Amino acid sequence: MTLEDFTEFTDDEGDGGGETAGSPTDDAPDGEGAAADASDAPRGNSDGDAEGARGGASRDGGRAAATAGEGDARATGAAGDEATDDGFAAYDVAPAGEDTGLGVVSVSQGLRVAEEADETTLKAFVTTGNREAVRLGKYLLVPYPDGERLFCRITGLEYAQEFRSDDATEIHARRQMRRDDFAERDYKFMAELEPMSVVYGAGDDMKRRMTDRVPKPGAVVEEASDDAEIKTGLKIPEDGVFLGHLSVGGEKVRTAAEPPTVDYRVKDDYADGDPLAFRHTLVAGGTGSGKTHASKNVLRQYLDSDRTYPTGDGRESRMAVVQFDPQDEYAQMHDDNPDLDADFARRLDREGVAHGGHDDTVALVPRVANATYPGEGHRAERVEFTIPFSLARDMPWLVAGSGLNDNQYPALLTLLNRFFADYGDSGTYSQFLSYLDDPALKEELDESGRVHEATFDAVKRRVRAVPGGVFDQDAKPITELDHTLVRPGGLSVIPTYHLPTSRQKEIVVLAVAGLLVDDKLSNDPDSDRIEETPLLIGMDEAHNFLADADNVQARKVVQKFTEAAKQGRKERLGLFLITQDPQDVAESVFKQVNTKVVLNLGDEDAINSVNIPSNLAGKVPYMEKGQMVVYSPDNSEPVELIGLSRCVTRHGD
Ligand SMILES: Nc1ncnc2c1ncn2[C@@H]1O[C@H](COP(=O)(O)OP(=O)(O)OP(=O)(O)O)[C@@H](O)[C@H]1O
Ligand SMILES: [Mg+2]
Repeated sequence: MTLEDFTEFTDDEGDGGGETAGSPTDDAPDGEGAAADASDAPRGNSDGDAEGARGGASRDGGRAAATAGEGDARATGAAGDEATDDGFAAYDVAPAGEDTGLGVVSVSQGLRVAEEADETTLKAFVTTGNREAVRLGKYLLVPYPDGERLFCRITGLEYAQEFRSDDATEIHARRQMRRDDFAERDYKFMAELEPMSVVYGAGDDMKRRMTDRVPKPGAVVEEASDDAEIKTGLKIPEDGVFLGHLSVGGEKVRTAAEPPTVDYRVKDDYADGDPLAFRHTLVAGGTGSGKTHASKNVLRQYLDSDRTYPTGDGRESRMAVVQFDPQDEYAQMHDDNPDLDADFARRLDREGVAHGGHDDTVALVPRVANATYPGEGHRAERVEFTIPFSLARDMPWLVAGSGLNDNQYPALLTLLNRFFADYGDSGTYSQFLSYLDDPALKEELDESGRVHEATFDAVKRRVRAVPGGVFDQDAKPITELDHTLVRPGGLSVIPTYHLPTSRQKEIVVLAVAGLLVDDKLSNDPDSDRIEETPLLIGMDEAHNFLADADNVQARKVVQKFTEAAKQGRKERLGLFLITQDPQDVAESVFKQVNTKVVLNLGDEDAINSVNIPSNLAGKVPYMEKGQMVVYSPDNSEPVELIGLSRCVTRHGD
């Protein structure tokens, strides 16, 4: 046969059509198809009989009738839309009158729940009228006869053959090309489901447990639309810090409640574990993905006056937030967002989301030679500070830079120890430089075998390479500003945008963050205020400060922050890391982060590095501004969210 033969072929019904999947009548000559058609139309394959019997036995009479009804619809209906609708009605009406589902659990391709996810097979046949509405990721409920519900998620959608026929044929394709409609009911539409939990009980007593039972064949599958049921199914806490609204494929999940959205919150009390703030948060996203917008919205929640945490001595204290700010954006949290209108504010109030400029915001501005802080974008109070060189006593790596190797580092320690022993805590950076210029010192250390001459010179070069003008400037030392830096309920923002070099930025951020961490972890803290106050350290562009690198400074920094992260829960210290290059944040710190909020990321390495479940990772490159996925295993199942479309404080000009 040539192609022309087909082209001229016009008689659809006369093609000996056993192999085509046109209307049911096409199937009749097939013999086998006819049997399936009559006995088990909805499933329509050769397993039909046995399965139909099983299904019938487990259901009420109404269901059996529905099957018959469906059979009728098929038998009488030509392939028209009306017939399709009739067929759909027949599926729909039977189960419970008001019960409108998406379809029914099907056994024809296996129905099995197992301890191993890959041994689980759960599929639902989706009725024709519902097919346009189903999407990957949607949350569904399947009832058990005793009222418990299986909470699940759509993980696959597929058209399967309805009849024993082959639609991958020239004839079928030609015919299809000549008409512009598509006969849904010629095909099965199967949704593959992943069971997430069994939800049981009602109202405040609603609970979840691991999936431990299999739904009945033919059970009606419905979209989850009850706020409490969805939260229970996904293990989303009722209370906590608001992150955004639950969504699937970029659309908010709607419920019948008011507001119709499902709020996603992160646990923030000791009722069941620790507040997750103290188990650390990562906000990762590409440039312009909405990291700062989202972070401000979250940080503002932690600063809310209603939010307190028990302290070691039995009091309740509000959280202090210290935010390192490379782009000079966070001091704006002091101000109201002019775009946040009364209507939006009312909605936030209704949902218990804190909003409005945070009065108790201080910009703690590092004073550095030849740099002025413009600070035009906000009205927060400003306090200047400087880094006293004495901090190098506890953090020698501050002056090591990336050039010092492991052999040279002990020499630096020796020199710093001797220097501070001679000069006390008031010893300055420039005094240290002069100190190193002393040839007698060099000779003495060399002769006593403590620091080789060449090593001495190398250390001196490194220390001299520290950019001038960072230490001991004309401002109050940060060590004396602990009550300004850390205030219960207060936000301290440390802007670094105005600093001329990245090394200066790094020294400022690491010195202040290191000071906070040391006081938190120390048994003998320099500042009781820092030690006692619940503290969140926010770090934007965290990859610039917490990168893994093969040098002493990086190793010491990473070690310190890993330790801080590990001790965080005990000491009420939380890290809130924000980055566009999560792959550059040291793995050991990363591992301590419990809550990962991922906005749009295009870079594959970056996506892989955040290490979130693959179904979430797949969405990351497609997410629009404000869309995020949240992986917080101790809070909830992994979910997709949409953040607030407006910033609750000022953001941008
Ligand atoms: N959920 C959202 N809805 C609407 N607009 C948003 C949303 N999130 C962020 N935006 C807007 O997108 C722009 C970029 O957001 P943002 O500054 O937070 O991005 P970023 O990831 O911090 O960028 P950068 O890499 O420059 O730091 C801002 O104008 C912000 O207001
Ligand atoms: Mg930003």
